[in-house]
Amino acid sequence: MEIYKAEERRYDEMTYRRCGASGLRVPVISIGLWHNFGHADSRARFSEIAFRAFDRGITHFDLANNYGPPPGSAEENFGKLLRGGLKPYRDQLLVSTKAGYPMWPGPYGNGGSRKYLMASIHQSLRRTGLEYVDIFYSHRPDPDTPLEETVAALSDIVRQGKALHVAISNYPPPLARQAIAMLRDAGTPCLVHQAKYSMFERAPECGLLQTLADEGVGLIAFSPLAQGLLTDRYLDGIPAGSRAARPEGFLQPGQVTPERVEKARRLNALASARGQSLAAMALAWLLRNPVVTSVLIGASSPEQIDENLKALQHLDFSQAELDAIEEILATPAGE
Ligand SMILES: NC(=O)c1ccc[n+]([C@@H]2O[C@H](COP(=O)([O-])OP(=O)(O)OC[C@H]3O[C@@H](n4cnc5c(N)ncnc54)[C@H](OP(=O)(O)O)[C@@H]3O)[C@@H](O)[C@H]2O)c1
Repeated sequence: MEIYKAEERRYDEMTYRRCGASGLRVPVISIGLWHNFGHADSRARFSEIAFRAFDRGITHFDLANNYGPPPGSAEENFGKLLRGGLKPYRDQLLVSTKAGYPMWPGPYGNGGSRKYLMASIHQSLRRTGLEYVDIFYSHRPDPDTPLEETVAALSDIVRQGKALHVAISNYPPPLARQAIAMLRDAGTPCLVHQAKYSMFERAPECGLLQTLADEGVGLIAFSPLAQGLLTDRYLDGIPAGSRAARPEGFLQPGQVTPERVEKARRLNALASARGQSLAAMALAWLLRNPVVTSVLIGASSPEQIDENLKALQHLDFSQAELDAIEEILATPAGE
C-alpha cells in the first residue's frame, strides 16, 4: 500500500478559531468518527475520508471510547490510520476522545466515576496507540456520581499527561457552569462543550450558548447536519447505503419524517439561491455565531467532505435570508 503523504497546501483554505478563551485553535469544520469508522466499514474507504479531511486542513478528529460498532473499533481504526500514514503528522493533529456511555459490563464501565474515566482513558490510549489525547471529554453528566469526583478525575488525567485538555459534553447549562468553574479552580480549565446543535436542534440557544460566552468556553456543534437530514440525502426517499438505511445507523427511518423532508426541501431551494448546497448552508448558519468554535461533521465519502467545506466560501447571511430560514423552520407540519 502506498504511504500517505499529506497535501502541502492543506492549510491554505481552512479557518481556525480559538477555542473559547484558550490558545488552542480548532478548524471551523472538524470530523467525527462516530459512524463509518467501525470494523464493519471498509478500511480503504475510511482511510480515504480521513486523509481527505487532513488534506483539506481538518486537523481535528473526534472519537469516543464507544464509537464503532463494535464499541472501541473506531479508536482501533484510528490507530490503523496513524500507522498507515497520519503518525508523522501527530503534532499537527488534534485528537479527542470521551467516556460516559456504557462501554463494558459491570458497575465500572459507564457514567462519570473516577474508576470508569481512568480505566477508559487507559483503554483509549492503548487502542489508538497514542501517548496522549489532545482533549478528553466527560461524555455526559452522571447523576449518580458527585460532580467533584468527575472533575477531579478529569484534572488528574491532564496532570498525568494522558490528555492536554479536558472538556464536557451534553451537560445542561447550570451543571456546565458548575463544572467549568470547578475545572478552572482545579487549574485545568474546561476548553470546550460539545453539544448537539443544528437548524433542527436549537436547544443550545436556550441558555447554553450564553453560558459558554460568559465563561469563555467554546462550543463544538455535533450532528450539525442532523445526521444527514439537513442535506439533499433524503429529499427523494431513503437511499440505499445512507445512515437511515443502515441497520447500525443511529438515524432511524422513522426520523426521516415528511415534515423534516419538506423543510429540507425549502431550505435547499434557499441554499441554491445563495449558490450553496443545503449541507454547506446548514454549516455556515451555525458558524455565524463566534461562540461556535467548530462544527463537527460526519462523512461517508471524501466527496461529502469537499462539499461541506464549501460552507467556508459563503459564511455571511443577509437578514432576509436569516428571516426566511426561521420562517421555514417554524412552519408547523402540514402547512
Ligand atoms: N458528544 C456526543 O454525545 C456526540 C453525539 C453524536 C455525535 N458526536 C460527534 O459528532 C460527529 C458528527 O455527528 P454526525 O455524524 O451525526 O454529523 P452530521 O454531520 O450531522 O451527519 C453526518 C452524516 O450526514 C451525511 N452527510 C454528510 N455530509 C453530507 C453531504 N454533503 N451530502 C449528503 N449527506 C451528507 C452522511 O450520512 P450518510 O452515511 O447517509 O452518507 C454523514 O455520515 C460524530 O462523528 C461524533 O464525533 C458527538
